[in-house]
Amino acid sequence: MRLLCLISLIEYLPKTIFEAHLKTEATSQRKTDHIDLAFRSQVTENDQRFYYEPLLSSHPNEWEPSIPFLKKHLKAPLWVSSMTGGSEKAGLINERLARMCGNLGLGMGLGSCRIILEDNTFLKDFQLRKHLGDEVPFFANLGIAQVEELLSRKKISLILDLIDKTETDGLIVHVNPLQEWLQPEGDKIRIAPLQTIISLLDKIDLPVIVKEVGQGMGPESLEELLKLPLAAIDFGAFGGTNFSRLEMLRNENKDQNVFESLAFVGHTADQMVEYCNVLIDSNPAYINKEFIISGGVRDFLDGYYLSQKLKATSIYAHASLFLKYAEKGQDELMEFAEAQIRGYRLASRFLKVV
Ligand SMILES: Cc1cc2nc3c(=O)[nH]c(=O)nc-3n(C[C@H](O)[C@H](O)[C@H](O)COP(=O)(O)O)c2cc1C
Repeated sequence: MRLLCLISLIEYLPKTIFEAHLKTEATSQRKTDHIDLAFRSQVTENDQRFYYEPLLSSHPNEWEPSIPFLKKHLKAPLWVSSMTGGSEKAGLINERLARMCGNLGLGMGLGSCRIILEDNTFLKDFQLRKHLGDEVPFFANLGIAQVEELLSRKKISLILDLIDKTETDGLIVHVNPLQEWLQPEGDKIRIAPLQTIISLLDKIDLPVIVKEVGQGMGPESLEELLKLPLAAIDFGAFGGTNFSRLEMLRNENKDQNVFESLAFVGHTADQMVEYCNVLIDSNPAYINKEFIISGGVRDFLDGYYLSQKLKATSIYAHASLFLKYAEKGQDELMEFAEAQIRGYRLASRFLKVV
C-alpha cells in the first residue's frame, strides 16, 4: 500500500511541477506583453451609448436561457435577414446560413420565394427546415407586389402552398416601393402596401412579418403597422445594404441616375427605435409587439444597444454581414456568429444603455 502511494506521488510530482512551470512562463510572457503593448493600446474616445458597470455581474455562462420569439425559441437574440435562393451559389449560401441557425439556435428569414411560387425548379434552395430544426422560427418571404398580384388573381392558396413546401412558420412581406421603381424589371405597386397587407391578414390565418429592404420606414408607416395583428415588424433600416443604390448600379440607363438622390432617403435603425418608442409611450399595448431590428447593424454592440433601447421585445439581425462570411465557408460563418453571440452576452452583463 505504502509503495503504491509512493509510486503515484513520484508520478504526480513532476507533472505538477511541470504544469506550475508552464503557468509561470505564461504569466511572465503576459507581463512582458503588457509592457511592450501599453503605449500602443492608448484609446481616448469612449462609446457614449453605454454606462459600463463592472461591479454588478459575473461573466456570462456557456448556458443562457432561451429567448421566446415568434412563438418559438432562440438561443441568442439574432436573426438572419432575408436574402437569397434560386441559383447554385444561392442554394449553398442558404444551406450554410441554415446550418448555422440550427447549430446556434438563431431564427432565419428566407430570401424572396417568388421563384418557387409556381415552379419547383429551385425549391430545394428554400427547403432548409431540416438544417434549422423545429425549435427556431423560420419564415418565407414575398414582395408586396407579388402579394398584391396574388390577391388580385385570387391565388392566395399559392401562399399557403409556399408555407407548406418550405415548412416555414409564416410569411415575411417585404415592402420596397423605391427598389421596385428603380429596378429596370421592377413591378408597379398599384395599391398602397398598407391596403394589401390588411387584405392579406383578412384572408389568411398565418403569422405575417412586414419589413423594408434597407431604407427603413417613417413614423406614420410604423404606426399603421403597429395597429395590425402582425407577428413582428422587421425594420430593414437605412445604413447598410441599400437597394435603391444597388438597382441604380445595375442600371445602365443613364436617365435613371436622375433618381440618385433617393439612395440617401430613409431611416436608420436608431431613428426607427426612437419612432417606435414614441408610439409605444402613446399606446402601452404596443409594448407586447415583437420587432426584428435590422439594416445597418454593424455588430453585437449595435445590436445590444438598439434592442435594449427599444421598449418592446426585440432581437437584431444582419443580412450582408452574414452573407460575407457565408461566402467564405461554413466554419468561417460559424466562427463569426459564435463570436458575435459571445460579445452580445458579455455586453449584456456589464453594459447599460445611457
Ligand atoms: C444579397 C441580398 C439579397 C436580399 N434579398 C432580399 C429579399 O429577397 N427579400 C427581402 O425582404 N430582403 C432582402 N434583402 C434585404 C435584407 O433582408 C436587409 O433588409 C437589408 O440587406 C439590410 O440589412 P444589412 O444592412 O444587414 O445588409 C437582401 C439583402 C441582400 C444583401
